[in-house]
Amino acid sequence: AIALSPFTDSITYLEDGDWAVLHRDRVEIFDEAGNPVMRAMQKSVGTAFLVDKGNHRHFMEKEIHEQPEVISHTLAHYLDFSAGAAREGSVPLDFWHADRIAMAACGTAFYAGLVGKYWFERIARLPVDIDIASEFRSRDMPLSRKSLAMFVSQSGETADTLASLRHCREAGLTVASIVNVRQSTIARESDVALPTLAGPEIGVASTKAFTCQLAALASLAVAAGKARGTISTDEEKRLVRELAEAPRLASQALRLGGQIEGLARELAQVRHVLYLGRGTSYPLALEGALKLKEISYIHAEGYAAGELKHGPIALIDETMPVIVIAPHDRFFEKTVSNMQEVAARGGRIILITDTKGAKGASVRTMETIVLPDASELVAPILYALPVQLLAYHTAVFMGTDVDQPRNLAKSVTVE
Ligand code: AGP
Repeated sequence: AIALSPFTDSITYLEDGDWAVLHRDRVEIFDEAGNPVMRAMQKSVGTAFLVDKGNHRHFMEKEIHEQPEVISHTLAHYLDFSAGAAREGSVPLDFWHADRIAMAACGTAFYAGLVGKYWFERIARLPVDIDIASEFRSRDMPLSRKSLAMFVSQSGETADTLASLRHCREAGLTVASIVNVRQSTIARESDVALPTLAGPEIGVASTKAFTCQLAALASLAVAAGKARGTISTDEEKRLVRELAEAPRLASQALRLGGQIEGLARELAQVRHVLYLGRGTSYPLALEGALKLKEISYIHAEGYAAGELKHGPIALIDETMPVIVIAPHDRFFEKTVSNMQEVAARGGRIILITDTKGAKGASVRTMETIVLPDASELVAPILYALPVQLLAYHTAVFMGTDVDQPRNLAKSVTVE
């Protein structure tokens, strides 16, 4: 619809197998058996004016800077800030009777889902079985009709994710999806389509859709905790109040762009990078590595910090920077000892933390990026921004095609 928006705002979506004959004055649509069928004509959101770089060099840069606003829109869809509560009716799902959530997604959307797993389990005590969509069916996961199936996708057209959705629908599960394109196939084939309000995302590397997925998942976890009685009204108010801070904190984090651009100049000289994180910072480490590798073509890996000793530490030397994502949370002290192990082997550390973490990190770093203080719930949303900016500026120094990196497509519609 985005590609056609300069020409029309009326869109008719065909179903699988449909075919159509376009006449000058009308369209005839047939199903795969050749029977004439009607398909609804919809008004697509006029996006022509949104598909513009404004005064940014790349769509990715623009979309990174849109995040405070679109995170706010997404949170407001699910949360009633004045009441300090999950917004009634915004999540028509039966969390009370669900025995678990079976979740699948790809790439960045999978990492958002992985953060969501921590939140659903910690806040709503609701087990989450998540897998990358291409493996979700290969595992032949036992599925129960008491489980909720949940799929995360920016485009809503990713073939592996759609195939996993259809697999769960055939098994009789209630299917929910968190999508950024409301008329997408995944949205249309879901029982409940939950929107991220990121607006059109043109850069192949997903940025604002990721933080809006996190905003939606955090809101869903609060709604699930409320429905399951695992959080009190006061706790619900506290969590909503914390999330209400996310847009302002994201704006503050974006002001670190100059420092990060200077660091990116050095990062553009290296060939390998390791990202480490614990708890909800672990999926952020995976996402940071994906962002860097997919647009700068520098090899990068994300690891759970606790895994360092089980192998990756063999890689550490002065040629490979280690980017540590570590707000001063309940895991911080353990992550400091990981950093000491890295430093003892000549590794160069880039620490992304907060004021307390910067003071408490008793280790020499190549660079320390200090973010504003944030609650444990908001941290993953906030810490996504510096890893996005670091990947973006590094890719600019590398001279790659930031918005359309080699070999990649914005939506992978083949399995
Ligand atoms: C993200 O930066 C990547 N471009 C890619 O991993 C993407 O997240 C993945 O292909 C899933 O796409 P979707 O969210 O549209 O389903």
